Amino acid sequence: VLDRPPSPEHKRGANSTRSPGNSFMSYRAVKGMNDILPDEVARWHALERAFRETAELHGYAEIRTPVVEGTELFVRSIGEATDVVEKEMYTFSRHSESLTLRPEGTAGAARAYVEHKTHAKEPVSRWYYLGPMFRAERPQRGRYRQFYQAGCEIFGDPGPACDAEMIDMLVGMFRRLGIPDVVASVGSIGGAATRERYRETLRAFLQPKAGELSEHARTRLEQNPLRILDSKDPKDQAACQGAPNILEVLDDADRAHWDALRAHLDALGTPYVVDPLLVRGLDYYTRTLFELKSSAGELGAQNTLCGGGRYDDMIRELGGPAVPAIGFAMGLERILLALGPMELPKRPPCSVAPLGARAVSKALELGRALRDAGVTADVDGRGNSLKSMLRRADGLGARYCIVIGDAELDRGVVQLKDLAGHSQEELPLGDVVARVAHSGGAA
Ligand code: HAM
Repeated sequence: VLDRPPSPEHKRGANSTRSPGNSFMSYRAVKGMNDILPDEVARWHALERAFRETAELHGYAEIRTPVVEGTELFVRSIGEATDVVEKEMYTFSRHSESLTLRPEGTAGAARAYVEHKTHAKEPVSRWYYLGPMFRAERPQRGRYRQFYQAGCEIFGDPGPACDAEMIDMLVGMFRRLGIPDVVASVGSIGGAATRERYRETLRAFLQPKAGELSEHARTRLEQNPLRILDSKDPKDQAACQGAPNILEVLDDADRAHWDALRAHLDALGTPYVVDPLLVRGLDYYTRTLFELKSSAGELGAQNTLCGGGRYDDMIRELGGPAVPAIGFAMGLERILLALGPMELPKRPPCSVAPLGARAVSKALELGRALRDAGVTADVDGRGNSLKSMLRRADGLGARYCIVIGDAELDRGVVQLKDLAGHSQEELPLGDVVARVAHSGGAA
């Protein structure tokens, strides 16, 4: 129920058009949000299955949190001076509450961890999630306003061993998936104290060049100079050339963590590169940061497949105990773009083609019996000609078509057409299910 009467805007947004002099209205999906049609879904399932299997082998259990959270949760955890919070959130109000469609999954998982006092139930929690996220970014190939992430979070393990295990899991999963040219970049931004010191160092470095920065970067110089390192504006990128490297200002504890992480990765033989200027778009990170990119042709500019890092302060900032955390999320659309076409096994269905009114009931019964035996079955009850039913069976990629007419019904037989072998034989009605199931028709 809307709190106010719908305005014409409500009735007809930019996603629908009315041709002049014609009352016909055509509706389109919202810009940056895509339909995933049935013939594309098989690739999604294959990727989601690979992700779930990998995550579960590593001891992660699935969590499902709401798509909508209170706006303040994201402002607090992601950070006020980030692009996501400043301009990309879908925020609306209901029942005097400000709500936001989740732009990412970490804040909701952390909120759930605190709300359910999970720390009191188990020392370490490993959670994974899959689902749609929403950011009002400028849409382009690989960047959408509704997109799907698969992510993992570990609460209660300070690392660095689990940091290395997480990066190694991702490198291994991308390799098994067959994504070409993947590079894992790893860095550290230290803990809160190191970051505060680095912020000062960076501000002092950039201040004399303030005039050369973009207008947006100038506004960030005071509040969040680290974000300027992440700017895509060539003016900001030029100003950041030669900027001090955060790895040089790590304190002793941060340095020990960073050194141990690299030692674990080296011992595992996990390929990675150190990126001392790695900055991520969200403000909650501490110490370990990582991103996996691929230069696969289809991706173009949006080539970061996965990003993550440690966020040891978030649980406390959300009102929980001081529990360390690390996680990542990967963009499923981007991974599918990087993968290109996939060879997917298709279940060969069986089509049942009844000829005549009486045969339709028998065909429905046969369809049920086929499915009970594990065969994907389609019953063509449209009352069309045999030619048209065979065309439909072919279009479905069916291996078999069972033709059953009133005459066959009287004799208790069916015609079994092998569409691949272009042959046909007559079989007793009672034998056809077993025959199809045993010839590879069953799933
Ligand atoms: P993020 O880097 O903002 O991190 O997003 C992770 C991944 O989601 C990106 O690497 C990209 O593949 C995909 N992605 C982000 N925005 C879009 C978009 N507009 N369209 C398509 N794909 C997109 C996070 O979201 C953190 N929650 C990751 C994390 C988990 N850190 C700790 N735990």
